[in-house]
Amino acid sequence: MGVANDDRKRRGAWFTPDHLVNAIVEAVVDEAFVAARGGRALRVLDPACGDGRFLTAVLAATRACGADAKVYGVDIDVAAVEYVERHTEAVALCADALHCDWLDEQGATFDLVIGNPPYLSQMAATTTRGGASRHGGGPYADAAAEFLSLAAGLVDPNGGRLAFVLPQSILSARDATEARRRIDERATMFWSSWTGERDFDAEVFTCAVAFEFGKSSLRSGSSRNGASRQGGVSSWSHVVTERVGIPPMPAVFGCTPSTGTLGDRALLNANFRDEYYGMIPAVGDHDIGPPLVTSGLIDPGSLRWGEIPVRFAKRRFAAPRIDLDALDPKMRAWADKRLVPKVLVANQTPIIEAVCDPTGEWLPGVPVVAAYPKGGVSPWEIAAVLTSPAASVWAWHRQGGSGMSPNAIRVGPAILAELVWPDGPLIEAVAALKSGDIVRCGRLVDRAYGLSNDEQDLVMSWWMTILDRITNRHRRTERAC
Ligand SMILES: C[S@@+](CC[C@H](N)C(=O)[O-])C[C@H]1O[C@@H](n2cnc3c(N)ncnc32)[C@H](O)[C@@H]1O
Repeated sequence: MGVANDDRKRRGAWFTPDHLVNAIVEAVVDEAFVAARGGRALRVLDPACGDGRFLTAVLAATRACGADAKVYGVDIDVAAVEYVERHTEAVALCADALHCDWLDEQGATFDLVIGNPPYLSQMAATTTRGGASRHGGGPYADAAAEFLSLAAGLVDPNGGRLAFVLPQSILSARDATEARRRIDERATMFWSSWTGERDFDAEVFTCAVAFEFGKSSLRSGSSRNGASRQGGVSSWSHVVTERVGIPPMPAVFGCTPSTGTLGDRALLNANFRDEYYGMIPAVGDHDIGPPLVTSGLIDPGSLRWGEIPVRFAKRRFAAPRIDLDALDPKMRAWADKRLVPKVLVANQTPIIEAVCDPTGEWLPGVPVVAAYPKGGVSPWEIAAVLTSPAASVWAWHRQGGSGMSPNAIRVGPAILAELVWPDGPLIEAVAALKSGDIVRCGRLVDRAYGLSNDEQDLVMSWWMTILDRITNRHRRTERAC
């Protein structure tokens, strides 16, 4: 099926390799599942079927279990539907699956909904649906989240199964929260697959997940094979965290905090596109104005400004500053508000990397997150809490799968605001951080969180491994410079 690349991109038409199709079908079509249908033919749907490869594989697997299946495929692409009609046993329909009237008059559901729905980012102009979501996703929900919600409504609620290949961002994305919650209320994830590699030519990292309906996995805290829930938000990050060796979530984060959260003690925000473009004319390797701090300059507990070069707006700088007089009045007001005591946090990192600016001398670049203390909390306390192994483990369980690379997490202001504040004292941890001893700081904050000895050992040894990697990364960069 030859299709132009632009057209494929617009429809999210990246086809699933046979090995992945086979692995998913093997996981979901087993003898017990087929036998539970009592000898009747299984009703199976792929709502974005492409050339029908999932349906063909399901049919073969069902027949190998001694039963039969009626397989249905839908695709928006007329050529795909013609291909399916000609080459498979499926009943194929050319339609936009997200706008079909699905259930027949008897409300017949499907025993299995399976496939690899399109991933069409709502941030991309060519693929946006224009904001509104018919199936419960937030304004930026990927089309895959819409397909997930649609499928959940079409599966037999008593023992039906749903298996999809999805972009890994669905596991923790805020805009997919509702889609995840609806499924967690009615189903259990019983199988998943994630490699951290680009398994096929889709432009994003993917995972595969399978659910059985009729048993809810929702409970507070985290469960081994089901959803985890923190602060009322359900996340499927375990698909990633279990495979990249993140320690289990410390118990303290499964409880409702009596101490409140970071968001109660700091105003958190990040700059956007307007600020980025507004800064460009004022940035230079000159000696006027506050240093510009980009994510790459932030390390846990320290800033490498002036030590390593920075790329900003496609240019390389040795020690970039922002000349305040070169900013327009709106940007000047923006800068004045930010030249106050704060904590700056890098984005897309393997652990939380935060640094304290106690005298308000730096300006954050994009997409650095800034935390401005409120209510008498010191920026040092905030930096210490963020520099703890416990906080990083929490962030992975909350955000695993969100990074642009498999070993990183995206920690935006809204997520960080949800971080539980530790109950114990932070004075010694702050002193350690001020003296540059971030390991001691991390250990003391973990203690202030009340982690058990076992939890402390586990999170600390994982965190130290990543710290070593960060240090080695710097050695390599320094040699390259
Ligand atoms: C990622 S491909 C998957 C195809 C096939 N299921 C596979 O796994 O190889 C996504 C498919 O969804 C189709 N598609 C895109 N938007 C759709 C929509 N709104 N309704 C139905 N199909 C759609 C595309 O034409 C494409 O064939």
